[in-house]
Amino acid sequence: MQHFLTSASWKQQELQQIIDFAKELKKSPVQPLLKNKTIALLFFNPSLRTRTSFEIGAFQLGAKAAVLQPGKDAWPIEFELGSVMDGEAEEHVIEVAQVLSSYCDMIAIRAFPKFNNWQEDKQDQVINKFARYSSVPVINMETITHPCQELAHIMALQEKIGDLKGKKYLLTWTYHPKPLNTAVANSSLLIASKFGMDVTLLCPTEDYILDQKYLDHTQQNCSQHGQNFQISHDIDSAYQDADIVYAKSWGALPFYGNWQQEKPIRDQFKHFIVDQDKMAKTNNALFSHCLPLRRNVKATDEVLDSKNCIAIAEAENRLHVQKALMNQLANQNQ
Ligand code: CP
Repeated sequence: MQHFLTSASWKQQELQQIIDFAKELKKSPVQPLLKNKTIALLFFNPSLRTRTSFEIGAFQLGAKAAVLQPGKDAWPIEFELGSVMDGEAEEHVIEVAQVLSSYCDMIAIRAFPKFNNWQEDKQDQVINKFARYSSVPVINMETITHPCQELAHIMALQEKIGDLKGKKYLLTWTYHPKPLNTAVANSSLLIASKFGMDVTLLCPTEDYILDQKYLDHTQQNCSQHGQNFQISHDIDSAYQDADIVYAKSWGALPFYGNWQQEKPIRDQFKHFIVDQDKMAKTNNALFSHCLPLRRNVKATDEVLDSKNCIAIAEAENRLHVQKALMNQLANQNQ
């Protein structure tokens, strides 16, 4: 049984098939491909795009989505094996995953890191435990990566550019007042390199370099495609001749759980904002961001309102790629 936990376990060709089918669904959105199927959507964190696009996508294919927020409108869940459950949690993932599997054809999970201990968070325990105890496919709606966003991102880029091989892809860190999840940044590197682009990670200092696991994957993918992967702390040279600029903010891993100490450091890098001066150095690059985005903090109005910004198209594509993905996973034995 195939889950969709990380794009790293899927071949480029398999991901491309999902994107190609999403392009078909975009032209013909209502089809009974999942008639009478069901999906549980578990949100441990807030969402606008993911929740709406999964619910509407299921509806458009004839399926029913049940949305649950554990700890709010559903019981809090325990994930540690062998734990004495005398705290907040009322039930264990062992039961939750099996019960939901008996009702539903798929289970989708959004579970951000706890932001205290990266060595723990990088185990991605919540979704991995669901995958372990579920007897139906599990979909990652953002944990420490965001593979559904990856599909929508690549689809939007292909719609504008066509073949992405060899394109100069810049992932730039950008300022945000809070330390955010590294998920979309990890995903950006994984997918840009998987689709054969020349990838640059721009971040203020060594402290903001992403986890080695994602750097290794990126290097491996780039080498397989004969492309380069570089890390830069120099804004001018990193933007030079880029074809695509993808922006995201994240907290510095060496300060993980120690965010008060990181804050004054991060506050020195407000100038990483994506603005027109920086975009002018590129090869008329497309700009995108996963959203939500704080205007004039992460990117300026001018950049967001320019014809080169494809963030809305990327957000729309979440609907189409997730429908194609649900169809692939729910009908995988037919
Ligand atoms: N990009 C994204 O996943 O948006 P939401 O957090 O609103 O779901």
